[in-house]
Amino acid sequence: MNGDDWLADTRTSYDTVAVSYADQIGGALAGEPYLRAVLALFAELVRDAGGGPVADVGCGPGHVTAHLHGLGVDAFGIDLSPGMVDVARRGHPGLRFEVGSMTDLPLAHASVGGLLAFWSLVHVPDDAIPTVLGHFRRVLRPGGPLLLGFHVGDGSRLKTQGYGGHPMRVYVHRRQPDRMAAWLRDAGFTVEAKMVLDLDGSAPGAALFARRGRVSA
Ligand SMILES: C[S@@+](CC[C@H](N)C(=O)[O-])C[C@H]1O[C@@H](n2cnc3c(N)ncnc32)[C@H](O)[C@@H]1O
Repeated sequence: MNGDDWLADTRTSYDTVAVSYADQIGGALAGEPYLRAVLALFAELVRDAGGGPVADVGCGPGHVTAHLHGLGVDAFGIDLSPGMVDVARRGHPGLRFEVGSMTDLPLAHASVGGLLAFWSLVHVPDDAIPTVLGHFRRVLRPGGPLLLGFHVGDGSRLKTQGYGGHPMRVYVHRRQPDRMAAWLRDAGFTVEAKMVLDLDGSAPGAALFARRGRVSA
């Protein structure tokens, strides 16, 4: 993988699968009580920190953005894939979705009261993680909560098809929660909680709750 090839490959891949991803995953939260609990806790943390707009970064078809909106959160979505953003806008016409990359997040300094990245960091290579977390910290208000969801494990695999056999070329990186927590601390976050999901299953995931410190580093 050279330079930013992964970004172009990821964008093209999710443009290709956007409609089928929405069909297959767009209603998934209904069957995911633990994820709903994670999102409800995040919504409470955002409210307690003063509210404000919340960025769902790597929002895909916008179902998580919409779920948060239903919990009273002023959520909007950003995604690398214009195809995903089109699908999100069509599926959730009352909400705001924009094209953008978390590697160069098009949001102003201290402009959001909360930020989540749900299974979108899984495509970001290790060497780009500090840059991405630096953007997350930059755009969050002091004290603002951050929620990361990601695949737990070690190593990376190249996914060449998905969501109904459509061609893809995306790397899927699995990480141990402690490693992600260490990256977060290095980026200036305080890590507050870790929840491991599907612990005995074939695709364990983790939710990490962190917070941008109130004192500027
Ligand atoms: C596995 S999907 C997750 C979508 C949604 N968050 C969910 O929970 O179903 C990964 C999403 O991350 C987006 N993505 C990948 N790299 C990104 C980047 N650098 N910036 C913004 N979005 C990105 C993809 O386009 C895709 O929509």
